[in-house]
Amino acid sequence: MDIKTVGVVGAGTMGNGIAHVFSKSGYNVILCDVEQRFLDRALDTINKNMDREVAKQKLTAEDKAAALKRIRPVLDRKELASADFVVEAATEQFPIKAQLFRELDSILRPEVLLASNTSSISISKLAALTRRPEKVIGMHFFNPVPMMKLVEVIRGLATANETFTAVFALAKKLDKTPVEVNDAPGFVSNRVLMPLLNEAMYAVMEGVATPEAVDEVFKLGMAHPMGPLTLADFIGLDVCLDIMRVMHEGLGDPKYRPCPLLIKYVDAGWLGRKSGRGFYKY
Ligand SMILES: NC(=O)c1ccc[n+]([C@@H]2O[C@H](COP(=O)([O-])OP(=O)(O)OC[C@H]3O[C@@H](n4cnc5c(N)ncnc54)[C@H](O)[C@@H]3O)[C@@H](O)[C@H]2O)c1
Repeated sequence: MDIKTVGVVGAGTMGNGIAHVFSKSGYNVILCDVEQRFLDRALDTINKNMDREVAKQKLTAEDKAAALKRIRPVLDRKELASADFVVEAATEQFPIKAQLFRELDSILRPEVLLASNTSSISISKLAALTRRPEKVIGMHFFNPVPMMKLVEVIRGLATANETFTAVFALAKKLDKTPVEVNDAPGFVSNRVLMPLLNEAMYAVMEGVATPEAVDEVFKLGMAHPMGPLTLADFIGLDVCLDIMRVMHEGLGDPKYRPCPLLIKYVDAGWLGRKSGRGFYKY
């Protein structure tokens, strides 16, 4: 599989990071979103994040300029037809992804592998919507993408070995460390992490401790680099809620019930860092 051009669908928190690492590794990137302002914001973020790498001498100014040139922002998804590989990083809602997978399947060449960066939605279910289930796979990056080494590579039920091997190798080319995981709600990372964040929210809701106190316990007592509520705000509270809902529904166990305070915050538009307000004010 010769990959030169990578399509990234969704230019939000994750999409801009994914575009960043692919372009930095020499791939041409077609970055797609539904509104020009999301594309503008993504390019601005990539520019600033690359500036930081230049300041730390991890990237030269020339390589930065070349990487930025390799990113082509587009609104029309048909432009993805020239991509050799596509990562979908759109909003974590099944109807949105389902519609996208059907559409991408009809736009992309039949041999093109289609990966999803979903945090929790079934890869097998997304694959079943396409005529290429053996070429559909999970490629789950972590936030912030340019800094985090891990990529969970998720095999759907029908994912072919060649697809898995190719995506595993691709993650390594991005200087990431891929880990093999099978398809199940939340995979490994969120299956274990999200109940922790959700439980921290219950502790705040029930008045056990303030967000600051909960976070301090985890930073000092468990040597976590940031506390669970700071992390939830960073991930995005809407994203956390979507993941809890997928696990609650998919695994059917009441232990995955989303915290009512989380639901209240999301209803109020308090989505964490990206909206300026979550468990903390920004
Ligand atoms: N935020 C995290 O920490 C994190 C970590 C790992 C994986 N993920 C996953 O990555 C994906 C994206 O999450 P995010 O945090 O970047 O969300 P986000 O809300 O920041 O960005 C999603 C983007 O997708 C765009 N979009 C929606 N429908 C689209 C369509 N039809 N075509 C093109 N673009 C479309 C939206 O306009 C938005 O800009 C989700 O599946 C999420 O579960 C998120």
